[in-house]
Amino acid sequence: MSPRKVIAVVGATGAQGGALVRAILNDKTGEFAARAITRDPASSKASALAKLGAEVVAADVDDVESLKRAFAGAYGAYCVTFFWAHFSPEKEAAEAANMAAAAKHAGVQHVIWSTLEDTRRWIPLGDTRMPTLKDKYKVPHFDAKGESNKVFLDAGVPTTLLHTSFYWDNFVYFGAGPKPGPDGVLALTMPMGDKRLPGIAAEDIGKCALGIFKAKGEYIGKSVGIAGEHLTGAQLAAGLTRALGREVRYNDVPPAVYRSFGFPGADDMGNMFQFKRDFNADFVAARSLEVSRRLNPELQTFDTWLARNASKIPLE
Ligand SMILES: NC(=O)c1ccc[n+]([C@@H]2O[C@H](COP(=O)([O-])OP(=O)(O)OC[C@H]3O[C@@H](n4cnc5c(N)ncnc54)[C@H](OP(=O)(O)O)[C@@H]3O)[C@@H](O)[C@H]2O)c1
Repeated sequence: MSPRKVIAVVGATGAQGGALVRAILNDKTGEFAARAITRDPASSKASALAKLGAEVVAADVDDVESLKRAFAGAYGAYCVTFFWAHFSPEKEAAEAANMAAAAKHAGVQHVIWSTLEDTRRWIPLGDTRMPTLKDKYKVPHFDAKGESNKVFLDAGVPTTLLHTSFYWDNFVYFGAGPKPGPDGVLALTMPMGDKRLPGIAAEDIGKCALGIFKAKGEYIGKSVGIAGEHLTGAQLAAGLTRALGREVRYNDVPPAVYRSFGFPGADDMGNMFQFKRDFNADFVAARSLEVSRRLNPELQTFDTWLARNASKIPLE
């Protein structure tokens, strides 16, 4: 039997990376071995991955030398950044540059870079329909990722640009789920109008990424967008209503109102939803359900995801 090809996975104890590590370990063909990258191999999450069969390796995306060691000998690397850990697009771009440099140094044969659109291609900084944030961004947590596509391509690293979608898991972990309004009825608040929001089970991002690695170079040098479904706010609320057995109303608010909510990153999220709403055709078209299902035949619909996860959604 030929030795398994190692995929080095950044963010392995998190949503995207964790999903990929589990997908690799559950893959019956055993084509790949999972190298889980974490800052703390002794943590309970890292130990759980080791127990499942992953090789656990320490590295920090802020330390390029640690990444070079972690990528050494790997066939593939899954690269993702952690905007919400620091809220800095510049730091995110520096982290992407570190990963691209480390992948180049290690001679990695296939990198998947988890990216998003640079929204300034659609809405330049001078466009006043939405405020400019942090001096030079419209959607900071998108723009620096899109801007960073270049560092992978310029480094000559064989790369797939993976455009992910809004995780439905945000309804459980990111405070984005329905909340009771003044009348006590649950409301799902999103400034999406009647437009469709590409969404996905975070676990499926990892399964789609495995599908990309398994496609033997077919997606190298390409952009791939993934989603489980493209649903409107009203459809998401209807799904939640069915799954929770309790009415959930879709509460469409203007993006400016959303930006004013005051939680950390509300302005960034408000601009993000406005971008997805106002450039909906492009945003949805970039995330093919057919391609996603081809990469991952187990792709979940929102209803499937709800059947497994609705009970975890905090409702207060
Ligand atoms: N939420 C959404 O709907 C959504 C949709 C599309 C894209 N995204 C993007 O997804 C990205 C986050 O990915 P995720 O959701 O998979 O993250 P996550 O679940 O928050 O996991 C982050 C993991 O990354 C590791 N990490 C954090 N800082 C690190 C560092 N400096 N060096 C090495 N590892 C570090 C941590 O592991 P250790 O503590 O073990 O080191 C942590 O477990 C964000 O940039 C976000 O913009 C999110």
